[in-house]
Amino acid sequence: MSIDPLFQPVTLGTLELPNRIIMAPLTRARADLGHVPTAMMATYYAQRADSGLIVSEATAVDPLGMGWYRAPGIWTDEMVAAWRRVTDAVHAAGGRIVCQLWHMGRLVLPDYLNSALPIAPSAIAGEGETFAPRAAGDTSLLLPMKPYVVPREMNEDDIARAVSSYGRGAANAMAAGFDGVEIHAANGYLIDQFLQSRTNLRSDDYGGSVENRTRFLREAIAAVTAHVAPGRVGLRISPTSARKGMGDENPQLLARTIGKAAQDAGLAYVHLIEPISSGFMEKPERPVIEDLRRDFAGAVIQNGSFDGPAASACIAAGQADAISFGRPYIANPDLVERLRADLPLAPANFDYAYVGEEAGYTDYPAAT
Ligand SMILES: Cc1cc2nc3c(=O)[nH]c(=O)nc-3n(C[C@H](O)[C@H](O)[C@H](O)COP(=O)(O)O)c2cc1C
Repeated sequence: MSIDPLFQPVTLGTLELPNRIIMAPLTRARADLGHVPTAMMATYYAQRADSGLIVSEATAVDPLGMGWYRAPGIWTDEMVAAWRRVTDAVHAAGGRIVCQLWHMGRLVLPDYLNSALPIAPSAIAGEGETFAPRAAGDTSLLLPMKPYVVPREMNEDDIARAVSSYGRGAANAMAAGFDGVEIHAANGYLIDQFLQSRTNLRSDDYGGSVENRTRFLREAIAAVTAHVAPGRVGLRISPTSARKGMGDENPQLLARTIGKAAQDAGLAYVHLIEPISSGFMEKPERPVIEDLRRDFAGAVIQNGSFDGPAASACIAAGQADAISFGRPYIANPDLVERLRADLPLAPANFDYAYVGEEAGYTDYPAAT
């Protein structure tokens, strides 16, 4: 057996992984127009089943939190049945897959909500623009772009509905045969909007102090762990990311407080986006991985701009237990084998990252 730590088994909660190479969640927008997973998604994930663990692309738990053309959801029985084909294919290929549970909050365009406003902890628009749905008859490859809108501030009923939608999503994920779930609390989506001080100006129990800003996350975790054993639940966070108008007054304290919440709930792992170099995402001036670990004794997956040697070094140094790879998985279905044999990585065609059919999705060959 290789002495490279990347290829050593690891246990995250009760998830037993044969190696420490995780497939990061990648939105690829190959579901159908009703957000139901398609057969090509089963092929795509099964091709990548060698990874220690596949984290599915972000999967919406509620139609109010879905604002991405052809991204999948998991709120109907039809979606659950379609996901079952994906999980069966991954398991038949010897892999493991968890479902990333997603609510986009303020980042949903009204185009997806019959012109209603999206919901968020506070009425502050996201920064920038995003993909709008394709108009009927539009045959261009690229999707139209539109700016984010000012959302409607969530009331108590909105919060209760959103929390319970994570519980339903978790129950549905288990019914669909997933090995567990990952709560998406990163990248400026709903839970992150509650967590970070720049997007949460509430004066009730869900805003203000860092404990209050973590309340919605704790409630979402409780809703999820009512249906899934905590040893099969992960949490993805990006407390230092300022993308889409995010920002926190004290990311170190936030990371520590999130770690405490994960510890209290007995979660399997925290998946921290903390890039080691800037580019696709920014390398933080002050990393928070040690703050996260202060009160969290579970496994930590680190993500962001890793290659094989950097990943091995990070695990060997005891900084992280496993490393996730995002962009390398687009064009390298056999990433584990390529890293093991030190083979060159194929370049991805990013024109097809978020749009298209099989081309640029399931047609990247293995090296051997
Ligand atoms: C095409 C694409 C889709 C992504 N979709 C998701 C997603 O659904 N959920 C998520 O948490 N992060 C998503 N990300 C972020 C990646 O998981 C990862 O954090 C990022 O690519 C940095 O890792 P890397 O340097 O290994 O690529 C996406 C990134 C890309 C390039």
